[in-house]
Amino acid sequence: MSLTRDFFIALSKNQLLNNGAKKWGLKLGASKVVAGTDINSMMKSVKELNANGIGATIDNLGEFVYSKEEALEAKASILETLEAIQQHGVTAHMSIKLTQVGLDVDYKFCLENMREIVAAAANYAIFINIDMEDYSHLQQTLDILHALLEDYDNVGTVIQSYLYRSEKDLENLQNVRLRLVKGAYKELSEVSYQSKQDIDMNYLKLIKLRLQQPAFTSIATHDHHIIDAVKKFAKENSIPRDRFEFQMLYGFRSDMQKELAEEGYAFTTYVPFGQDWYGYYMRRLAERPQNINLALKSLVSK
Ligand code: FDA
Repeated sequence: MSLTRDFFIALSKNQLLNNGAKKWGLKLGASKVVAGTDINSMMKSVKELNANGIGATIDNLGEFVYSKEEALEAKASILETLEAIQQHGVTAHMSIKLTQVGLDVDYKFCLENMREIVAAAANYAIFINIDMEDYSHLQQTLDILHALLEDYDNVGTVIQSYLYRSEKDLENLQNVRLRLVKGAYKELSEVSYQSKQDIDMNYLKLIKLRLQQPAFTSIATHDHHIIDAVKKFAKENSIPRDRFEFQMLYGFRSDMQKELAEEGYAFTTYVPFGQDWYGYYMRRLAERPQNINLALKSLVSK
């Protein structure tokens, strides 16, 4: 199981395959979990979600950005997507990875790009969520978040329960809108829990701490055990439903997504789109190897 996970995480980091995949269009079953390669197809999916009472957090996919030129291109696409959200009047915000807008190129350059994006989003009253990437980017991500929070309040980030330091980070971000997740990358035992049991235990602990803090929380998981425990905790502790929401990825447990929305829980689906689907898809296969069936079926049915 963990060998399979390592294999797909390694594949997700293969730049050659990533570059090739941009030219293929959505392949290997990726169209089940990626909402198209352009704004129009993505908007169609977002409108369908909205019609079921579900909001969207849109990820304009982008990987392996190591030059200013690529980062500026990514920024332009993100600004275009913000404009489309406004024009179509959909219930949606955006999720952005800092490496996509230049964190691996230069810290200040990335911060300036984010300032432009968060300012444009603030004009439209759109929230920007900074996705959390691997541990090597974590401190810089929090530094950029804090710099942006000095001028804007429409920005937040993600806390990963597999990291030992997350409880402390939660404490320092009590008034900031946050998404809580288990964590998607492969991290060393020096900094992170390794077993599913420890990660799940810490996840529930952090969720319970967080739900007693004032700011809005997104609980992003497909794990029904966690979801049931959150519902129970919220009920027993009279946590108002407008203080938190559930989030899942596009194409995952769609029936449960609708059910939770129908039960009256706030719900947002993470909607990735774009030509740069390969790395995102490989990380999803790493998390849930059962999805390999999707990839294999799509190979033989073409
Ligand atoms: P996990 O994969 O541990 O599954 C637990 C159990 O749930 C399974 O054993 C199974 O019973 C059930 N289950 C899970 N998926 C299922 C499915 N598709 N069908 C049926 N049953 C299923 N990570 C990160 O590091 N940074 C980030 O910014 C984000 N952002 C993010 C946003 C959103 C909206 C989501 C949903 C997730 C992320 N993640 C993330 C990814 C996250 O860290 C984590 O890797 C995945 O969500 C997988 O963990 P789960 O909590 O879903 O359960």
